[in-house]
Amino acid sequence: MTHQTQQPDLQHIPVLLDETLNWLTQSGLVEAQAGIFVDATFGRGGHSRGLLERIGPDARIIAIDQDAQAVAAGESMAKEDQRLSVVKGRFSDLARTLDSMGIESVVGVLLDVGVSSPQLDDPQRGFSFKTSGPLDMRMDPQQGESAAQWLNTAFEADIVRVLREFGEERFAKRIARNIVANRPLQTTAELADVVSAVIPRRAQPAKHPATKTFQAVRIFINRELDELKEGIESAFSVLCQGGRLAVISFHSLEDRIVKQRFRELCNPPPMPRRLPIANASMQVQAKAIAGPIKAGMAELARNPRARSATLRVIEKVGESG
Ligand SMILES: C[S@@+](CC[C@H](N)C(=O)[O-])C[C@H]1O[C@@H](n2cnc3c(N)ncnc32)[C@H](O)[C@@H]1O
Repeated sequence: MTHQTQQPDLQHIPVLLDETLNWLTQSGLVEAQAGIFVDATFGRGGHSRGLLERIGPDARIIAIDQDAQAVAAGESMAKEDQRLSVVKGRFSDLARTLDSMGIESVVGVLLDVGVSSPQLDDPQRGFSFKTSGPLDMRMDPQQGESAAQWLNTAFEADIVRVLREFGEERFAKRIARNIVANRPLQTTAELADVVSAVIPRRAQPAKHPATKTFQAVRIFINRELDELKEGIESAFSVLCQGGRLAVISFHSLEDRIVKQRFRELCNPPPMPRRLPIANASMQVQAKAIAGPIKAGMAELARNPRARSATLRVIEKVGESG
């Protein structure tokens, strides 16, 4: 008989693995066999592991994650393969992190944004409305306010704004009112209950009624959309000419940011006629390589969490830096 345990399965199945690695390593302009790559969202290292299998003995991967548990997993992987180095930090600081390591440019960067399965599935991390835990939701519990600290002190109007902006929640007003009426909230189950109580039954979609609220609060607490914007800029700034940036996003708010910024880098607006000096933001800085790429049927059957993943890849053109 197999041993039964109450521990959640803290694994993460990497999404769009082959597609991401193929596009990341196939630039004709750079030497992927000997270059430096950055896995800026290490998680449990699914993409890093795949990349280590493809790159040469002189290539390196710098892995970044803001979650101490992910970094610990990375450190044990790095003991097995010295081409991997792991750093705890945010990907918005990517350029500074590399600079402190004496690295000026890299051949590829991957941002596989959002939360990992181990974060979602461990009730103690406070992301789950399925199993109750402390209402935390921070990817780095050492930094910033927890979801409980914020929800228990925020103005009702600010909660409404967050639920609308980051959750596209149409019942934002009545949810926020019920949160305020039931403060203090301490657990994810309490938050899920106050949300469910005010969403009319007929309006409840197939998903759990608190799905959008949890998404919104999580995005707000972790500054996820600002991190994504800053992460794209920081990653693009360290790419060498011919280097590639791959971003996997998980919902439309994220994908909109990636799509728009990639479009601007690849197709800048026409320069006004009488402008004497060409501004960098008006020059073509990248070319579109791939995307939007979605998971196929086989992957979805293996990993339902891949259903909302979208991969986009660009390549830097022109002078680096
Ligand atoms: C979707 S998971 C990545 C999974 C990984 N590709 C794998 O195959 O195991 C996202 C990871 O990125 C981390 N993360 C999210 N936002 C971050 C940020 N702004 N800076 C650094 N790490 C971040 C999370 O802590 C999480 O571990």
